[in-house]
Order: sequence, then C-alpha cells, then structure tokens
Amino acid sequence: LQEAALNEIKDTSSIEVVESLRVKYLGKKGEITSILKEMGKLSAEERPVIGQVANKVREAIEENISSKKEELKSIEKQKQLAEEVIDVTMPAKPALVGKKHPISQIIDEVSEIFMGMGFSIAQGPEVETVANNFDALNAPKDHPSRDMSDTFYINSELLLRTQTSPVQVRTMKNQEPPIKIVSPGRCFRFDSPDATHSPMFHQIEGLVVGKDITMAQLKGTLNMFVKKLFGEETKTKFRPHNFPFTEPSAEVDVTCFKCNGAGCPMCKGEGWIEILGAGMVHPNVLRNCGIDPEVYSGFAFGMGVDRITMLKYEIDDIRLLFENDMRFLNQF
Ligand code: PHE
Repeated sequence: LQEAALNEIKDTSSIEVVESLRVKYLGKKGEITSILKEMGKLSAEERPVIGQVANKVREAIEENISSKKEELKSIEKQKQLAEEVIDVTMPAKPALVGKKHPISQIIDEVSEIFMGMGFSIAQGPEVETVANNFDALNAPKDHPSRDMSDTFYINSELLLRTQTSPVQVRTMKNQEPPIKIVSPGRCFRFDSPDATHSPMFHQIEGLVVGKDITMAQLKGTLNMFVKKLFGEETKTKFRPHNFPFTEPSAEVDVTCFKCNGAGCPMCKGEGWIEILGAGMVHPNVLRNCGIDPEVYSGFAFGMGVDRITMLKYEIDDIRLLFENDMRFLNQF
C-alpha cells in the first residue's frame, strides 16, 4: 500500500491530484484510516505491531504528500515569475498634471508686475452693493450702465459687480492713505455671449491714493507696466475719455506687440490696441469714501484680463476661455 501510494504521489504534477490522493489514503474514508479503524478487531498481540506499521505508513505518505505539495507550489511560482516579466522599457502611462488656466496665468503675471512696483493685492466680493458698485463711484442715477439690461441685479440694493472698481471704494473706506493696491477679480454684465463678449469676465483694477499723486505718475506707472507685460519697445497713447469715477479720464492704447505699431491683422491694421481705462480719482469718490480731496489725490486704472489674455495668446473667441475644453486648455 505504501509503495503504491508513494508511486502515485511521485507521478503527479498537479496540486489538485495530490490533494485527492491525500483524501484517498489519509481522508476520513481513506485506506489507511479504514485500516486503523479495523484495529479493534485484532488480537491484543497483533494490535501494537499492526498499529505501528500502519502509523509508519501513514507518516510516510503524509510526509511525501506535503513535500510534493511544496515542490509543486514552488514549480508553479517559478512558472508565474517567468510569465510575469516586467518590461521596464515600456513607455509609462503619462501622468495627467493640471495647469493654470490662461486667465489665472495673466492675472498672476500682471499682479506680479505691480507687486514689483510696491502694490499689494486687494479683493472684494462678487456680490456687491449698488452703493459700492455705482453710488460711491459717482455714477449718475441715470447712467446707462445702471440699467437692468446691463447689470445683473439681485434686488434693489445688491447686484453682481459690473467692474472691480467697488474694491477701490472698500479699500478707501477701510484704510488711511497712502493706498497702493491692485484688485483682480470676476465681473458680470448682462451681455449676450459672442466672440468678444461674455456675461462673466475679469478685470484688474489699480488704485493709488496719497499726497501729491499726479497724472504724470499714472502715466509713468502704466508705461512701466506695459513694457514689462508686452515688451520694452511698447509705447502708450492716452486718449481723453469719460468715466464717472475719474477726472480727467483716459483710455489707454498700446502699440501692437505683434507688429510693433506697423499695423497687422491683430491690431486690425491700426498699430494700436486699447487695453486700459484710467484717470485721476474724482474728488466726489474720495469724499464718498471718507478721504479729504483737499489733502489727498489719487489715480486709478482698470483693464480687461480676458482681452489681454486673448491678445497675448492670440485667442480669437472669448468663449473658448470658459468652455474648459482640455484640448484648448492644454495648449497654455
Ligand atoms: N472700471 C472701468 C471699466 O470697467 C475701468 C476703469 C477703472 C477706468 C479705473 C478708470 C479707472 O470700464
């Protein structure tokens, strides 16, 4: 019996078969087990002799089975290792890394230029009071920008800010001059979206208030800024304009950074691109914010971030900036 069992074990090459042999010989109904069960029928002299032999056979079979199992397991493992070769030369899966939205990139770039000139960053809420967005900024009661068709009103006192200028108001009300801030942020106007309009857009506003602040300083600051943003050769042109909150006011054009003022498709052949509104803070605005215009003066400027982003990256449709299409965003 032992020989038959050991031969059978030797000849198998699968763990399942080894297991079935274990059941066959050593299991509850196995051949050895039934022999041991019959022991009671033997005489007192035969019992220890047969018992010893049967136990020896059992031990031998057990030992064989477990060493065979070990052997088969290690063969299987070797096979598995041989199959699971890792090819370290395979190209890795590219890791998807997020990046800054082009608008955030421009906001950071512009903020950094102004911080380099000693400005700090101020922020305000996107839901503003009519008082901060219009009244304190000296907007006449019948100013067209106040119209329901231009402004998103929440109620008669609250609206979605139409410009970042209310941050000027908040800063002046809370801080003694000297003040030197830029405030980037989102603004909202009741515009139907097209290639150049979006009901949500971004501005960066600048404000300087102190003693003897002049228009010359405004020009110098903006000249320095546009050179840093668009290149050293960039020139500015201040055109008289009108804003309720500044007097005098100007719109500021810069020489097209693509053709350096010669005229190209980018600047529609004009050589100039309008990028800023600016002016000396209106005495009424200073007064509305608790600052004495006899003692202090100031200048302010504002620019459309989306427009500057579109110019710098040559994007021809503002809506692309807000669709969050990865194929578009991955280009920046
Ligand atoms: N807030 C103005 C606008 O939205 C821009 C501006 C800011 C003009 C500050 C002058 C001074 O058009």
